Amino acid sequence: MDFLLTEEDKMVQRTARDFAQSQVAPIAADIDKEHRHPKELVAKMAELGFMGIAVPDAYGGAGLSNVGYVLAMEEISSACASTGVIMSVNNSLVCDPISKFGTEEQKKGVLSSLAAGKELGCFALSEPEAGSDAAAQRTTAEKKGDRWILNGVKNWITNGPVADQCVMFTMNDKEAGHKGITAFVLPMKTKGVTCGPPDDKLGIRGSKSCQIFLENVELPESALLGEVGGGFKVAMSTLDGGRIGIAAQALGIAKAAYEAARDYSVTRKTFGKPIIKHQAIQFKLADMATEIEAARLLTLKAAWLKDNKKPYGKQSAMAKLYASKVANDVAREAIQVFGGNGYVTEYPVERHFRDAKITEIYEGTSEIQRLVIANYLKKEAQQ
Ligand code: CAA
Repeated sequence: MDFLLTEEDKMVQRTARDFAQSQVAPIAADIDKEHRHPKELVAKMAELGFMGIAVPDAYGGAGLSNVGYVLAMEEISSACASTGVIMSVNNSLVCDPISKFGTEEQKKGVLSSLAAGKELGCFALSEPEAGSDAAAQRTTAEKKGDRWILNGVKNWITNGPVADQCVMFTMNDKEAGHKGITAFVLPMKTKGVTCGPPDDKLGIRGSKSCQIFLENVELPESALLGEVGGGFKVAMSTLDGGRIGIAAQALGIAKAAYEAARDYSVTRKTFGKPIIKHQAIQFKLADMATEIEAARLLTLKAAWLKDNKKPYGKQSAMAKLYASKVANDVAREAIQVFGGNGYVTEYPVERHFRDAKITEIYEGTSEIQRLVIANYLKKEAQQ
């Protein structure tokens, strides 16, 4: 067992930390207040290679590890969780499936552009009637001659309003259930694609999400991602990786909330001494730091397994389940440490509290993570 980071991973972490603290953190509260997509930060992340961290450099990526991806995601999300999820969707939910299931033409074309950050991607699986039950897709894909015709509605699509490309899931054979689901790479400028107004959200307000409407959208055969009927596996295996990214985002939110509470407890005085000298506060900080460390180890282990080509679906679900709980617990306790000051927007912890909640919902709710983990446990028990 080796808990030491490689020199390369340390360099990624340092670069991400410097960028996050010098350029992201100072404007994070404004991004949140203005519900603004931080386009300029996305452009800088592209320059740093963060929009396609683990994509080989032959396809426009930085060719780094998934461990490096987690380290960078934690740093960036600790400064701004909205910026973190913009990055994670592009990396995990768009570049990753095209790397894994795409044709050489797709990798040389659209993947290279996405991984270099020249274009931004989104992932359209959820629908009004298909959230946790991802197999219940109603968006249709019908083959007419050599074209595919897509119709339907997608919901809560992160990056949707600002995306250039979309990994789109459709049902081409309803009778076949999940084996009738087919994925496509869809340029968002294709005729018949429109976006609804951006969702008005509790947290991650700088991350734009919306409904996507497809009306007789025509795609060529070359837009298929993977096999006809193979879309559910594309979605599930993509989410295995995506959940590592969201665990890292949750970790970043938790770290930011903890550090804010720790620093505040040194300066804030009650009953004649800094509150860090009160055992009630010390115990809170001790619990926060311990839980964050445990979440970090789970998340890094899932990424390490992915880097080492070992199965990681169970560990990524565990990492997301635990890290998202820690983010919510730590952010709530951080507000408690701040007292009244924690409840007002002058201090950052109310933002961390609002941003934390989504990590228990998207890329599979905590209940879905438990289902995924339990499915692995059942299989292990039967071996
Ligand atoms: N990798 C590859 N294949 C997998 C897989 C995986 N991780 N998990 C399941 N499969 C395969 C199974 O092997 C099975 O294939 P066969 O029939 O060939 O054996 C098939 O998929 C069906 O498996 P299940 O019977 O387990 O599927 P299910 O319908 O019961 O659903 C589920 C399983 C885990 C509940 C799934 O529906 C799920 O993950 N739901 C949550 C969806 C989700 O996370 N949505 C997030 C949307 S994206 C998002 O949030 C982005 C954002 O905004 C940032």
